[in-house]
Amino acid sequence: MASPALINVGLMGMGVVGGGVATSLLGQPNALARKIGCPISLKKVLVRDLAKHGQANLPAGVLTTNPEEILDDSDIHVVVEVMGGTEPAAGYMKQALSSGKHVVTANKEVMSKHGPELISLANRNGVNLLYEASVGGGIPIVGSLMGDLAANNVQSIRSIINGTTNYILTRMAHDGADFDQALREAQQRGYAESDPTNDVEGIDAAYKISILASLAFHKIVGPDDVFRQGISNLEPQDFRYALELGYAIKSLAIATLNDGQVKARVYPAMLPFDHMLAKVDGVYNAVEVEGDLCGKVLFHGMGAGREPTTSAVLGDVIEASRSLVSRAGPTHQDHSSNIDLTEPPTRADESGSGDSNIDDLICKYYLRLNVLDRPGVFAQIGHVLGDGEISIASVLQKDTNQSEQTAEIVITTHPAVESSVQASIQALNALEVVRDVSNVLRIEE
Ligand code: NAP
Ligand code: HSE
Repeated sequence: MASPALINVGLMGMGVVGGGVATSLLGQPNALARKIGCPISLKKVLVRDLAKHGQANLPAGVLTTNPEEILDDSDIHVVVEVMGGTEPAAGYMKQALSSGKHVVTANKEVMSKHGPELISLANRNGVNLLYEASVGGGIPIVGSLMGDLAANNVQSIRSIINGTTNYILTRMAHDGADFDQALREAQQRGYAESDPTNDVEGIDAAYKISILASLAFHKIVGPDDVFRQGISNLEPQDFRYALELGYAIKSLAIATLNDGQVKARVYPAMLPFDHMLAKVDGVYNAVEVEGDLCGKVLFHGMGAGREPTTSAVLGDVIEASRSLVSRAGPTHQDHSSNIDLTEPPTRADESGSGDSNIDDLICKYYLRLNVLDRPGVFAQIGHVLGDGEISIASVLQKDTNQSEQTAEIVITTHPAVESSVQASIQALNALEVVRDVSNVLRIEE
């Protein structure tokens, strides 16, 4: 088949990311044509409501509310899906791939839940499915795992991959901002998902780490294979105590390979101030990949927002267009084949490669307890922790409330086993002298 003389793009979704993609596609036609080797045109843009986008600076006739004007148009070569959500996004992507169109997406939810099936469909149809923007905004991590780092046996990925939560945690830690105010700012800046619960509860980061873990460890890791905890339980005093103890609080997404088993987790954790990830603030994301050949490599950049995400989406559009121009076949064929998709995809937990249980995790812990302020309390707490083989590293007594005769106690531990810590928390909560175990954070070193 001959190379097209003009690459036509169909854009699905015209929100924060779609608006950026449309502006860049229309604003720099000559530069893009030079990079691709042939002109590129934005042929159709799918929206839900024409009136809402009446002011968009698009050529006449480009906007449509009918997806078939993109999916059934044989002159459209590349479909860019930036609508979000699973359906109809996944269905449109399948339809586009089945009809031989290259697909570029920023949709981590679809890639995390349906990636293997979609990649397999793309392979069968000899087209690209590119999803750089689904993880880390403008950071080129997906392509790096597929390409430049492919020679490595990856041992671990440690990352901050949700810009919204990192923005919120940074504002709370540095400026004493309250949670709701910081979340509102993240939404105004276009970082947050349409349902910000996905950001705050670690769902978005779980999608992303499952995508990275699948690529890095050559296993199919889905969102249900990721242990997940959000940031809504954090209170201002956790940031004060963390500062005093020499730690930053970050929402981390971690994936490791232990004895052939992928373990993936997302949770707020304490990190020593001198840890590289502790210095990643605001909307910035960072991904540390440890491989047997490359050692530790750190990627750092803006993880959300219109321009950084447009950078990743357009990079993929250029890659897909170049493969059309050169007719070299899909550029990511080899990359995606690092997951064996000749067989029906198996979930990581069914194949024994991963599950969301972290009972055997070993790390240090931070415990904040509200206790009665009277003699013998420390002894009882120490007894419970001792029974669980949990060794105390430090104890601080804080915020004594004389009228209620209560105090806040902050304990850090030496490395302990998660299951034992959880059992001890139950035992502590059952003590008459403990009002509650108000927060528990893992300390990553
Ligand atoms: P957004 O601002 O909410 O935009 C989504 C757009 O898609 C909205 O304009 C929406 O229309 C439209 N849409 C939704 N369903 C549609 C349908 N069935 N038909 C036509 N249009 C439809 O979201 P976004 O921030 O641009 O994010 C888009 C995707 O990029 C998501 O998958 C997100 O996870 C991903 N992403 C976002 C960022 C970021 O920083 N924002 C970064 C990386 C990846 P209405 O306006 O009518 O609702
Ligand atoms: N809501 C996401 C974030 C967008 O805050 O990181 C980028 O994927």
